[in-house]
Parts: sequence; structure tokens; C-alpha cells
Amino acid sequence: MTEKITIARLHGMKLAGEKIVSLTAYDASFAGILDAAGVEIALVGDSLGMVLQGEEDTLSVSMDDMVYHSRIVSRACRRALVVVDMPYRSFETATVACENARVLVEQGKAEVVKLEGGEEQAQTVAALVDRGIPVCGHVGLQPQSIREYGGYKVQGREKQQAERIMVGACALEAAGACMVVLECIPAVLAERITTELTIPTIGIGAGVNCDGQVLVLYDVLGISPRSPHMAKNFMEGTESIPAAVQEYVRAVKTGEYPGPEHSFK
Ligand code: KIV
Repeated sequence: MTEKITIARLHGMKLAGEKIVSLTAYDASFAGILDAAGVEIALVGDSLGMVLQGEEDTLSVSMDDMVYHSRIVSRACRRALVVVDMPYRSFETATVACENARVLVEQGKAEVVKLEGGEEQAQTVAALVDRGIPVCGHVGLQPQSIREYGGYKVQGREKQQAERIMVGACALEAAGACMVVLECIPAVLAERITTELTIPTIGIGAGVNCDGQVLVLYDVLGISPRSPHMAKNFMEGTESIPAAVQEYVRAVKTGEYPGPEHSFK
């Protein structure tokens, strides 16, 4: 299980119907455990603002934070693809995004950058892809827009909103994104998007029919201050952190996780 995960491999997994497993990672020790357990994508998420730094949201995470955590995670990932979040306001224009993404790639050793937003980010995604920087999109609940929503709420329950999320995901694919995270949307909408797109969808609170799943590592280990509805504590019934991560990998691969109790209608 040492062959490096590539974007082409992830696309092959979608075609073959093999579930893609992702978890967040913020340091070398945990990243090494994920890598050894067969997690395909180590996501250096800006959720580190909440779970590492104790902030209320992700808005104060800086580029320096992301470069630092990306670099130390990258050191431990021999197999897993390292995807790194572009923090709040680091991609306000295509020019700013290209400069910051270059820093994440050069100094942070990011292999893919992830940014939140749908159709409105298509031009920026195209500019990044043009410069040879692979991009993962992120639609549905976008934690960097939390003040706009007024809280962490399921998105896409109304027809118009669902359509906007679908259009956004399609625009990201057309702009050259190599995959897209679907966060906290009804399972049926996530399934529709997954069928429509040729790039892999990675769900978090988006039902079992996405091409892959991602969770915040600290939720999987049961050490987050507040555990969201879609998360599951995999430490329950296991004896060690590596065993819990292996159990998460197994549960995602077999389609056992997420169950209906971790999904939204
Ligand atoms: O920052 C993060 O951890 C994320 C995941 C929740 C997808 O973006």
C-alpha cells in the first residue's frame, strides 16, 4: 500500500466504485497514522482554527498557519495525497489566489489546494489550474461563510439553494477542479451531484452515495469540544488511535459509514 495516490488514481476509484477515504491531518504524527492506515487523502483543513487553536470558527486562520501545518503533514505522507485549505480571504481575486496557492505548494508542499465556493470561484479555479495547481472545490456548507448563514446549518434543502449548489459543483468541474467536497447537504442532492460529475465528490454530512468521505480527525477520535451530527467517534470499541483510524477506513470502504443517522434529509 505504498504507491503514491495521484489525482488520476482517485478518478479511477470513482469509475471503479471504490470509496475514497479522507481525514483531516494537522501534524506529522497523526498524518503518519493516517497514511499507514490507508487513508487516500490527508486534508490539512482550516478546521485547525477550531480544533487546534480553540477558535469559534475558521476565519482567523492565516496563510502562515496553513503553510506550517501543510509542511509538517507532507513530511509524513508517503502515500496519501496532501490537500490543503486556502484560508479565509486568501483567494479574494484570481491573482491573490495564484500567489497564495504558489506559496502553499512551494513552502507547504501542498499537492492540491482546496477553496470554498461554487460558480463565483470558477474563474479563480481556472486561473490556478492554468498555472498547474490542482484544485479541490468545496460547496454546500462553507465554514468560511458562517457569518452569512448565521450558524452551521444544512444547505440545499430548498429547491433554489439546491440548484445553486448543483450549478456551483458543475461550474467547478468545468473550470478544471479535480474533485469537490460536499459539506452538510441532503443525501439525495449529494447523490445527484455525484452522478452528474465526472470528478470525485468527497462528502462530509452528505450521505453515503458520495465517491468518498472526509471527517475531522478529532471528531473520529472523540476529542472535539463539540461533535457534529454527521461525525462518529471511532474510538468507541477500539483500543488505540491507529485501530480507530483503521476502523474508519474499513467503515467508509464498505459503505457502512455514514449511516442514515449521520446524514441529512
Ligand atoms: O477544514 C476542514 O476540515 C474541511 C473539512 C471539514 C472538509 O474543510
